[in-house]
Amino acid sequence: MAGQTQSRSKNAAAYSFLGDAIIIAAQFFRKSAARLQFQRHEPGLRKTADNQLAGVLLLGICLSLTGISAVNAGAREQAKRIHDRLAGVPPGSTVLNDMETAIIGNDALGAAFTAMDNSAFYSVTLKNFVTPWTNEDQTVFAPLNDYTATVIGMVRDDVPFNTLLSADILYIGSSGLGLPGYSMTNNNHYEAMEQQGLDLQAALVATTQSAVTDLGGGASGILTTRAAAAAFFIAGTNRAMFRFTMLNHLCNDMEQVKDITRTPDRIRQDVSRSPGGDSRIFMNNCIGCHTGMDPLTQAFAYYDFDEAAGRIVYTPGQVQPKYFNNSETFPYGYITPDDSWINYWREGSNALLGWDTTRPESGSGAQSMGEELANSDAFARCQVKKVFRAVCFRDAVDGADRTQIDSMTASFRSSNYRLKQVFAESAVYCMGN
Ligand code: HEC
Repeated sequence: MAGQTQSRSKNAAAYSFLGDAIIIAAQFFRKSAARLQFQRHEPGLRKTADNQLAGVLLLGICLSLTGISAVNAGAREQAKRIHDRLAGVPPGSTVLNDMETAIIGNDALGAAFTAMDNSAFYSVTLKNFVTPWTNEDQTVFAPLNDYTATVIGMVRDDVPFNTLLSADILYIGSSGLGLPGYSMTNNNHYEAMEQQGLDLQAALVATTQSAVTDLGGGASGILTTRAAAAAFFIAGTNRAMFRFTMLNHLCNDMEQVKDITRTPDRIRQDVSRSPGGDSRIFMNNCIGCHTGMDPLTQAFAYYDFDEAAGRIVYTPGQVQPKYFNNSETFPYGYITPDDSWINYWREGSNALLGWDTTRPESGSGAQSMGEELANSDAFARCQVKKVFRAVCFRDAVDGADRTQIDSMTASFRSSNYRLKQVFAESAVYCMGN
């Protein structure tokens, strides 16, 4: 073939394309075989079509060895798709050219990082990615708030994402933009940013919660943002904060972590030990969630959301009255003395969540509990799955997807929890052929 006369680098590109094309062709053969297995009733038409396509691809390999133009056409499409998926808007021609060049040069990841330079990645993609985590309804139709802005800023600045639930960190609009100041009692600061259509990539600056709130040592990542408190510390018993953190950041709702084999000694007094007069219900159901959840939620014992004042409150040393709700339901239940927590779910079926056993399994307060959650394998994997879904527009479904999730989870951790890395790897995986 004519490839022999090409320069060394062109040969390298062509042969890497050759490898890709063989894989693609093989995938088509495999898929059509699989379809034949599972959908025997389907006429052989599609199989033929796929095999023809595979044939075309193999033909393409030979064509590509005679000239590089076939590669360019694909790379341009791929560049466009990466950009569309990450920024949500089409690229300008210069950016598209740069990204195409990167892809041809075997640097699709570099192309993805170029796409993430677009401010729409922050103002649109990330805003929509994060907003559902910040309210009970999980709706994307909510204004920018301190939770969303803090995540966006952390991603922009490559703040290690495993500090999400514990760091004393906050992102606000930079001064000089004519914004109302950050307030503990309202969301005006962030709504004004949105109303002014500010470019979040440029406008956000890092500060600390302890600098602009009176939380002091109680600052604990997004858990203690005003938005999270308003959504999950409001009323109730603070268990909602735990449940939604598990749901949004470990991708497990309570039903999935139920384990009735753990010790129930830290279940609070408000949980009946014989609901409807039947203690078996307690033993077979209630225990499943409350044995693990109650001693972890104890970490939030000093927090509440004061509805009248519209703000989070933190009372170090003083357990919030909501921890003693309905204490007469089962007077021998656990009486919360302080904000110490223990993770009973390190053992039993929830050991599968992959806790970091080099860390202590108990502690005091939200920060150390937030670290316990955010250093689990489930946390890293959950962030990766969410990004995959946001970028690929679908969940991971088959073996290849799951292998990709595994490898991205590993590289997320080894890149010091850099979330942009996960966005880039997902976009490349789903850039099409
Ligand atoms: C699937 C997990 C799960 C099971 C099983 C479960 N709970 Fe709960 N429970 C929760 C969660 C989560 C909350 C916090 C709800 C909220 O505030 O949004 C909660 C809250 C409560 C509360 C506080 C109610 C309040 O007003 O905030 C009581 C009391 C309670 N549960 C009792 C029980 C009893 C009794 C059973 C068994 C019949 C039971 N739970 C079974 C997860 C569970």
